[in-house]
Amino acid sequence: DYSFKAQLAEQHSSLEKDRSRSSADVYYSASNGFAVPNPYESQRAGENGPLLLQDFHLVDLISHFDRERIPERVVHAKGSGAHGVFECTDPIPNLTMANLFSEKGKKCPVTVRFSTVGGESGSHDLARDPRGFSVKFRTEDGNWDLVANNTPVFFLRDPAKFPHFIHTQKRDPSTHLTHADDATLFWDYLSQNPESIHQVMILMGDRGIPDGYRFMHGYSGHSMKFVNKDGEWVYCQIHLKSLQGTKFITQEDSANYSPDYSQKDLYEAIEKGDYPKWSVEIQTMTPQEAEDLWETQKINVLDLTHIWPQGQFPRRKIGEFTLNENAVNYFAEVEQVAFSPSHLVPGIEPSADPVLQSRLFSYPDTHRHRLGANYHQLPVNAARTLCPFGNFQRDGPMAFYNQGARPNYLSSIDPISLPPRAVNADRTHGHFAGEVMTFLTEIRPEDFNAPRALWRNVFDEPARDRFISNTSGKLSLCKKEEIIKRQIAIFREVDPEIAERLEKELGIKGYDGIADLQFNGSHNGMPRGSGV
Ligand code: HEM
Repeated sequence: DYSFKAQLAEQHSSLEKDRSRSSADVYYSASNGFAVPNPYESQRAGENGPLLLQDFHLVDLISHFDRERIPERVVHAKGSGAHGVFECTDPIPNLTMANLFSEKGKKCPVTVRFSTVGGESGSHDLARDPRGFSVKFRTEDGNWDLVANNTPVFFLRDPAKFPHFIHTQKRDPSTHLTHADDATLFWDYLSQNPESIHQVMILMGDRGIPDGYRFMHGYSGHSMKFVNKDGEWVYCQIHLKSLQGTKFITQEDSANYSPDYSQKDLYEAIEKGDYPKWSVEIQTMTPQEAEDLWETQKINVLDLTHIWPQGQFPRRKIGEFTLNENAVNYFAEVEQVAFSPSHLVPGIEPSADPVLQSRLFSYPDTHRHRLGANYHQLPVNAARTLCPFGNFQRDGPMAFYNQGARPNYLSSIDPISLPPRAVNADRTHGHFAGEVMTFLTEIRPEDFNAPRALWRNVFDEPARDRFISNTSGKLSLCKKEEIIKRQIAIFREVDPEIAERLEKELGIKGYDGIADLQFNGSHNGMPRGSGV
């Protein structure tokens, strides 16, 4: 059969085959399939003459090489990934209509990517940094991405701060040094934005360097909304609990390992059949409980610098996933994977958390830049074919699935099937959206409660010693005493003991507290009344 249709069928079956073919099964060729007997033979005009433009093999080889790099992720550039399977153990159809949680034993394929945050794609796996933990659930209703971190809170609650914060983690525009050498900008930002303190405490504690990726938990951080088929909804926090337990590496020890420690650890564990597993657990809260929590404890569910008290909102397990398949081709299956908090399925909706709302835009935007307009068509990103989706997006670079002869508009001649309208959560629950805007930049006493509990109740004495050593080590890389004094004042609000111990280590007396500093977003960390 010489039809184009037959050619396509052949190509499709070879897509999978190509992944597992050995070198001996393929012959050396230019990219159009033209067999080339000698990979090193460039065509020249005579024995010592110039090269010939007609030599497609050489031009093809070099011009493709010239284009090998795509932009690395602007954050989370260094990462590791694997494939696996999710299984629902405790269905929750009363809470969400999401198909993957509808029945006990229901399974779906997953792809997971772990990462550090601030470093470049060649940076050290054991940097003191939060870890990314993204899961793509390929459900029967389309792909749902949970783009989580290994900490339940984040550095900020106003998304406008994100690029500023990240820039202080990147290379200095002038010296081109990272904060591993000069942490002045790093602490300058943090000391101006004390809502970061809970995340800073976690970062400087033992969880700041997890022992690879298998021994850490993941957290949605943001409150999501779970919506059932009647349109009833609850706020929901998602926890991914490592069934391997948690382990950490100390600052001193981290220098003894290879920069690719976590990649090697994950890859080798899966290769030898020691498959890592996580349980998927949730906390839920009704809209009324969320309002009560704000009234009574000043914890706002739309503020991801705060956690939900686990005593009041206990975790329950809904499923687990196992990573049992390594990527065969890292670039195709891990570098090109595109996760987004806006890749959702019916039954899972975003809350009005301003940081989450910004992320809904940011990720697909960066994917279009990093991978191109048709990033969804790449095999690792494509929705499962058992979810037969169609729409009117057409063309653009590398349009691979261009939707055949179907109309490219809402046609009455050949109409597309329209699914029944999914029930959405009540979008009018704006109470918290109103509250959150008023205190996005204001610092409140409640901001220090959870970090204080971490220091006093969670850390034991050796953990406190390591925290002081990690923090004073990093603060000593700050070149401006004023900034150190400000950051010590923030630690004093958490617990005076932390401030005193840091002062002793550093030989610098910090400010007494933050009462005299203003944090209104324009002149953060400056004495009250200065600036506009
Ligand atoms: C990656 C933006 C906050 C978790 C990224 C990327 C961008 C980004 C542009 C690169 C994506 C790519 O190239 O594919 C933002 C913005 C934020 C924010 C604008 C706040 C305003 C957060 C928070 C979390 C998070 C709060 C966790 C709760 C991640 C993870 C990745 C990532 C896990 C890596 C995804 C992967 O493995 O491909 N972020 N981010 N981010 N972000 Fe965020």
